[in-house]
Amino acid sequence: MCGIIGFSGREQAAPILLDGLARMEYRGYDSAGIAVRAETCGLQVKKTKGRLQVLSTLTHGGADLEGTLGIGHTRWATHGEPNDINAHPHVSENGQIALVHNGIIENYLEIKEHLQKQGVTFTSDTDSEVVAQLLEFHYNECGSMLEAVGRVLRRIEGSYAFGIICSDYPNALIAARKDSPLILGYGENGNFIASDVTAVIKYTRDVAYMDDGEIAVVTPETIDVFDSELMPREKEHHQIDWDVSAAEKGGYAHFMFKEIMEQPEAIRKTVSPRIREGRVVLDDISLTAEYVKGISRIFVIACGSSYHVGMVSKYNWEHLLRRPVEVCLASEFRYSDPLVDESTLVLVISQSGETLDTMAAMREARRRGGRTLAIVNVVGSSIAREADDVLYTWAGPEIAVATTKAYSTQLVLMDLVGLYLADLLGTVSREEYDAVLAEMQALPEKMQRVLENFEDVQYFASRYFNHNSIFFIGRNLDYAMGLEGSLKLKEISYIHSEAYASGELKHGTISLIEPGTLVVALGTFAPLFDKAMSNVVEVKARGAEVLAVTTEMFREKMEKTANSTVVIPDTHPVLQPSLGVVPLQLFAYYVALQRGCDIDKPRNLAKSVTVE
Ligand code: F6R
Repeated sequence: MCGIIGFSGREQAAPILLDGLARMEYRGYDSAGIAVRAETCGLQVKKTKGRLQVLSTLTHGGADLEGTLGIGHTRWATHGEPNDINAHPHVSENGQIALVHNGIIENYLEIKEHLQKQGVTFTSDTDSEVVAQLLEFHYNECGSMLEAVGRVLRRIEGSYAFGIICSDYPNALIAARKDSPLILGYGENGNFIASDVTAVIKYTRDVAYMDDGEIAVVTPETIDVFDSELMPREKEHHQIDWDVSAAEKGGYAHFMFKEIMEQPEAIRKTVSPRIREGRVVLDDISLTAEYVKGISRIFVIACGSSYHVGMVSKYNWEHLLRRPVEVCLASEFRYSDPLVDESTLVLVISQSGETLDTMAAMREARRRGGRTLAIVNVVGSSIAREADDVLYTWAGPEIAVATTKAYSTQLVLMDLVGLYLADLLGTVSREEYDAVLAEMQALPEKMQRVLENFEDVQYFASRYFNHNSIFFIGRNLDYAMGLEGSLKLKEISYIHSEAYASGELKHGTISLIEPGTLVVALGTFAPLFDKAMSNVVEVKARGAEVLAVTTEMFREKMEKTANSTVVIPDTHPVLQPSLGVVPLQLFAYYVALQRGCDIDKPRNLAKSVTVE
């Protein structure tokens, strides 16, 4: 979703802004723009629909724009179609103030009408331009940009991260945030604002996270932060410890493939520090045994793939903990009048830690007295900072829009937490506890073996990429895993697909199976393998082409029935989805490749969904 960068320093701003925007391309966008203030010619704005490359060509990589102060933006359209005019930055009527915005201003129409009555003319359809015009209005009233920003923030409703420059201020940019991510970067040759650290990591590792309601004034030497009453605030600095190369393709054709291949290592990093002397150790959370024993119900709230992690965890946790686990889509949970009280543990899963629906659902759960434990990948993100407890997945930066390594690390971390809680509750036998932990430690190596067979999947993708409708079927954990396989395929290859619990097919959906329909049959869950096989036979009998995923143990049986079979190593059933999902990720990847899709930046999608 929209990416913001701002720079105030001692170097030419435009090339730095373009570079920062390029590093945030993965967030998803449809237009891009920059505004720079130069001594000689005031504010200069260049913006355009389409890829950043167009903007870069238009400005000769930024070389055309003088000035050391500027803001930049990649837009993911909400109000108004993607075009040159609706692209950011937006400039106030007198041309003095330029602004970039991420978020949605909910009362923009009312403010727009008010300003129109005062004679202000608008050029775009966006809610963001209204803020630029309102700023000009208040700036004319009070003569101070900081004061004007304060007044505007008191007037607007909704979510925002803003970057603002004004031609009267040669060195200062102003930033503000509420419910949209914004970080401050302290560099040697100047200071930054950005939607995420990937944009500035090349220039600095020294960052601070802005909190809701804060306003920052950024100059080449200083960053001053104020609260909503314009009282100064101290910010805690954080050092980013990952390497720039982690956010680069490093010889791979796509970030998605690179990230699929990084999964064994990401799992190792997430799991190893949390297993000591054969026990799960979660030093970083503060759930007491007494609290855990009093838990009456558990919610998992998340969106998209993170929600699918919840679906797998429901089966695993109910098996291990013997407590009811309800998995809710965050966008539904927040408006559902949920049954949450002090005895409810709420797991919040989010790669980015910035998904607005998930954050709002978490706040709702806390408001009702629930205790929140967040599983998050991005350190310092909003969800991580607001949850009662946080456990990080150590997947490193995930750039491809379609998640892979974040999903896998969320999955194993949920398994670890499940084991930990089950141990405290005494609901898991010592044998099973030890067996899951031993297999968990063997997981990276087994996953590596699955990845080494990528060519099998590549071959099957080349056989099946022309299908227009694909079903994923399975039972129990295989069904939950199929949800993720189906989503991966949909989002990057644009093929319609559905995941079905195999036993449910005959209650309606089997009518869609006709000769040649591709069914991806998941038969990795040992306790229900025979039942799953019956369903494979049923779809075969109706002419389906079956691509199966199964384990070594069931290879022979499956190969007799399915048209094509991918075989993965056996592991403990709790962990089987961690291995089973890998061929599904690879299948989606290779199908999308065959179809010529833009794999890392699929149409209409954004990486970090910071609007409702
Ligand atoms: C799919 C995908 C999305 C995200 C969802 C939640 O590949 O990446 O479905 O899982 O938007 O995002 P986070 O986990 O950042 O809250």
